[in-house]
Amino acid sequence: MSQSLNYAVFGVGRIGRVHSAIVQTYGHSIVALGDEAEGAITIAREELNVPNIPAFNTPEAMIEKMDDEIDAVIIASHTKDHARHALPFVKAGKPIYLEKPLTDGLEEAFDFVQEIGRSKKLIQIGLQRRYDEALIHTKQLILEGLIGPIREIRCILRDQFPPPETYSSRGLVIDMGIHVADEAIFFLDEFPNEVWATVHNTIGYDSPIDEGGDTAFVGFTTQSGIVGRLDLSRTHSSGYNNETYIIGTKGTIHTGRFAGYPGPIHVELWKHDGTLDEANSAKFEMSYLKGDYPEFLPRFERAYEIAHRQFHNDVSESHDFAVTQNEVLDAQVFVEAAHRSAQANGKRFSISRHDDLAAYRQACVDNGLMEA
Ligand SMILES: NC(=O)c1ccc[n+]([C@@H]2O[C@H](COP(=O)([O-])OP(=O)(O)OC[C@H]3O[C@@H](n4cnc5c(N)ncnc54)[C@H](O)[C@@H]3O)[C@@H](O)[C@H]2O)c1
Repeated sequence: MSQSLNYAVFGVGRIGRVHSAIVQTYGHSIVALGDEAEGAITIAREELNVPNIPAFNTPEAMIEKMDDEIDAVIIASHTKDHARHALPFVKAGKPIYLEKPLTDGLEEAFDFVQEIGRSKKLIQIGLQRRYDEALIHTKQLILEGLIGPIREIRCILRDQFPPPETYSSRGLVIDMGIHVADEAIFFLDEFPNEVWATVHNTIGYDSPIDEGGDTAFVGFTTQSGIVGRLDLSRTHSSGYNNETYIIGTKGTIHTGRFAGYPGPIHVELWKHDGTLDEANSAKFEMSYLKGDYPEFLPRFERAYEIAHRQFHNDVSESHDFAVTQNEVLDAQVFVEAAHRSAQANGKRFSISRHDDLAAYRQACVDNGLMEA
């Protein structure tokens, strides 16, 4: 495979255009655009400065016409269409960068994984926290044992605004929650065993996609006794806010305390004697952008860039991707339990993870997360 890749992009709304611009910056070519909405294609053609490249309304039509010219695919369509749009490209043998989550519903997610299998060479999922320098530094501090065994974790994700009108979602617990559900699993190396959640309306804007609220608190425990919380909202009036507190028996890590938006991302390691471990703490920068941009871009632009460089590298070297259909399925099970709990006034749901897909699916049915 050549150094630079020919990408097709299917789904060219906000984030589809962000991904496209990043790969263009790295010298790759966009050779085909796809979207079910003509309006999105028109904007993408102009914004990406590709006025004449072919555009398609379905993946099947794109593959039929362009199969030989496409090396890799980015899929960033509506969540509800991800599996349906990804499957033809998997079957055509194209490596895919697929935005999170796999699908809207858990049944379809299991069907999709059953159909494509567990190989880690098919799909890299757009859970960009796995590539974020501040979060990777945080993970390294945990692995070095600097805070001792973890007792408590709190992952915060707060938007400033509701999503655009074109957006489609089953609500903030599933849509936003999946990022920090995956983050918690990544940091803890452990899957929750019990999950509960509540959803609240704090600002009162009317959004049809927010499951009756704009703020949610998700609680969970793990088998080893760690207690965790995910705080989600679309109400942080001073700017996009991503924070994580991890409390161990020997110290605490605080990553991303709000320091302005955009602003520096601090990773602070607090020792048992109450002082800052200066040598192991670190500071990372956001992007400082001009003009109109999606609100999450300053915080995660660099992580998207690293994720795309890694995707290219893993495709070229035929390596496994670090975050695949398997990891996102786990995060989806976690947030499905949270979503159902929020709809049932905080009822507690048991969950478990299984390598065997049939056993995993059965456990989700038994735990009330999906139909048989
Ligand atoms: N990893 C991340 O940080 C991140 C951030 C945002 C979105 N996402 C994911 O990416 C996917 C797409 O999200 P998005 O934010 O790009 O949503 P979006 O609403 O901007 O775009 C989604 C779809 O809406 C339609 N659309 C968008 N703008 C349009 C326009 N001007 N005219 C006509 N149709 C238009 C298109 O069909 C497009 O494919 C979702 O699955 C979401 O979960 C991930």
